[in-house]
Amino acid sequence: MTKHFLNLSDAGGDAIAAMIADAIDRKAARAGKPKGQADADAPLAGHTLAMIFEKNSTRTRVSFDMAIRQLGGTSLILDGATSQLGRGESIADTARVLSRMVDAIMIRTDDHAKIEEMAHYATVPVINGLTDLSHPCQIVADLLTVVEHGLALPGSQWAWLGDGNNVLHSIVEAAGLMRFDVRMGIPHGYDPDPRFAEAAQAAGSTITLTRDAREAVAGADVVVTDTWISMGQAHADEKLAAMMPFQVTPALMEGARPGAKFLHCLPAHRGEEVVPEVIDGPRSLIWDEAENRIHAQKSVLLWALGRLG
Ligand code: CP
Ligand code: NVA
Repeated sequence: MTKHFLNLSDAGGDAIAAMIADAIDRKAARAGKPKGQADADAPLAGHTLAMIFEKNSTRTRVSFDMAIRQLGGTSLILDGATSQLGRGESIADTARVLSRMVDAIMIRTDDHAKIEEMAHYATVPVINGLTDLSHPCQIVADLLTVVEHGLALPGSQWAWLGDGNNVLHSIVEAAGLMRFDVRMGIPHGYDPDPRFAEAAQAAGSTITLTRDAREAVAGADVVVTDTWISMGQAHADEKLAAMMPFQVTPALMEGARPGAKFLHCLPAHRGEEVVPEVIDGPRSLIWDEAENRIHAQKSVLLWALGRLG
């Protein structure tokens, strides 16, 4: 059966643990090599990944391109504007055609229903490179990053500050799969889709929502935030004002556990969701987190193509 990666639960906790372990091993094994040189075993030699972007990207685009190269394969990019998708060719037909031409498809788009439709018609793996609903590849990199820095995921306490968005949805989904807890500090009116918290709670994780930023970070091992205005959302002064009490500052970080780590998927807006003293400070793991997109994406590709877990 074709293995799609639309959300983390498509893989499950055991496979995500295997992805993290494999990423750590592969990262260590290729240390010091030029970044475009293939891993010694080149497990995806001869494979091609098609990447479709209907939204902007720096990290997802570059990390998937480097990931497939390091696995011995190659990639090509279609953007919404210059492919026939931009002239109204259906997702279904695009999925069927690409499945005859390439070995896997990564798509970044807006409506999650589009990626579900792509997966329904594709006979090669479809990987979610971000939708309005979720960003699972980012969270594999985030998990890898904190594990690399010595955190045991089960029982760990994560704090989310800000908007109830796609990145939070995937963190909460990960919490259920990897058995950690999330305290979400979110202003009224910007709550996440409750389905993710319901699933995580059913799996035994504690997911709580508070309107008090200090309560959200109290005792946290990991503090995470993201842009207050996601791609496709209109800039709104009202939203920025509501979010301001949830800005991640050194004073707020004081309430987390000593040694707590700070994550941000990037791009960041210094002075909005986080101040420079935190994002550029000693607790911030953002550059490891960004690099780890490559190593995480390699594991996702290997899993989707049946080479892992
Ligand atoms: N974090 C992330 O997905 O970055 P890009 O939007 O640059 O791909
Ligand atoms: N929540 C952000 C994440 C960007 C990587 C967005 O969707 O724009």
